[in-house]
Amino acid sequence: MNEILTLTRPDDWHLHLRDGAEMNSVLPHTARQFARAIVMPNLKPPVVDTAQAQAYRERILAALPPGLDFTPLMTLYLTDSLAPAEIERATASGVLFAAKLYPAGATTNAENGVTRLEKIYPVLAAMEREDMPLLVHGEATAAEIDVFDRERRFIDDSLLPLQRDFPGLRIVFEHITTADAADLVREGPATLAATITPQHLLYNRNAILAGGIHPHFYCLPVLKRERHRQALIAVATSGHPRFFLGTDSAPHAIGAKESDCGCAGIYSAHAAVELYAEVFDQAGALDRLEGFASFHGADFYGLPRNTSLIQLRRETWRVPESYAFGATRVKPLKAGESMAWRLMAADEA
Ligand code: DOR
Ligand code: ZN
Repeated sequence: MNEILTLTRPDDWHLHLRDGAEMNSVLPHTARQFARAIVMPNLKPPVVDTAQAQAYRERILAALPPGLDFTPLMTLYLTDSLAPAEIERATASGVLFAAKLYPAGATTNAENGVTRLEKIYPVLAAMEREDMPLLVHGEATAAEIDVFDRERRFIDDSLLPLQRDFPGLRIVFEHITTADAADLVREGPATLAATITPQHLLYNRNAILAGGIHPHFYCLPVLKRERHRQALIAVATSGHPRFFLGTDSAPHAIGAKESDCGCAGIYSAHAAVELYAEVFDQAGALDRLEGFASFHGADFYGLPRNTSLIQLRRETWRVPESYAFGATRVKPLKAGESMAWRLMAADEA
C-alpha cells in the first residue's frame, strides 16, 4: 500500500544554521521541509544586537537555493551587558522573534552567556513588556553539579525564580530532556512551553556510552535515562499545545566530534520530519504529529499557521554516511541506517 502522510508545512523552533560555507551546506536540508525556523544566535562571535541579526538574516536569505520558500526567525544572544533598549529595537525591527539565554559556559559558544540572572533583570523586564519570548538553555552550570542533574537544577535555581519574578514573560524551555521538565511544562502556566529534539525522543544515554564511546550522540543537554525518554514521548505525542518541534540540529565537522574533546551537537536537519514521524508512528500517534510539528509552535509564538502542505511516504531509504559541511563533512543522525518515512519532493505529490 502506498501510505502517504500529509501535513501542514512544519516549522523548526530551534535550529543552528552556522554561517558562511557551512551554512550553505546545511540550509537546504532545513528549507526543503520547514517554512520557518528559529535561528539560534550562538555564532562566533554571537549575535548580540539587532543590526547583527539583520545582517545574519540577509546572509541566510542570500544562501537560500532558488525556489525554496523559507523564512528565518532571528534571535538575540543575551549577555550580561545587553542594554534593555536593544529589546525595543529588536521587536521594532520585525525580524527578531525571541532572545536566548545561555547560562555562561553551558554549551557550544556560550562563553559570552549570562553569568548571573540578576544581571539581566532589566532586560527581562523589557522583554516582558514587549512580549518577546525568552528561550532558555535550561542547564545549571556550576562545576560541582553532575552533568545529568543540570536540567533539574536549572528548574529549581533559575526557572522557578524567573517565572515568579516575571509572570507575564513567555518562556520556551528549549530541548527538554527530563521527566521533571516535561511535568513542569505540562502543568505550568500558558506562558511556559517546551521544544523537544528528535534525539531525546529516539535515544537514551546508553547510545553515548554502551559498547564504546559514541561521540556523535553527544549533545547538550546530554541524553538521559530511559524513564526520561518515555516521559518526553508521552508529552510530545499527547496533543498538549505547549510542546512543539525544535530539532536543535547542530552540525559540527566530523573531526570536531571525533576528538579528544568532542563538541556537543547532533545533526538532524537532513531528515528532521522523518525522524519525528518514526517516533509518533511507533507511539501510535501519527495523527498528533501535525499539531506538534506545525501548529503548537506558531500558536505559542503568536504567528500565523502555515497554509502549504508537505507529504511523507512510508518508504525505506538509507541515510548517507555523511554530508558536505563547508570544506569538511558532517555525520548525520542515523548515518548509514534506514528510515521508514521519506519526505516527498514538491513535484512528486
Ligand atoms: O549540543 C548542543 N549543540 N547543544 C547546544 O546547546 C548548542 C549546540 C551547538 O551550537 O552546537
Ligand atoms: Zn541549540
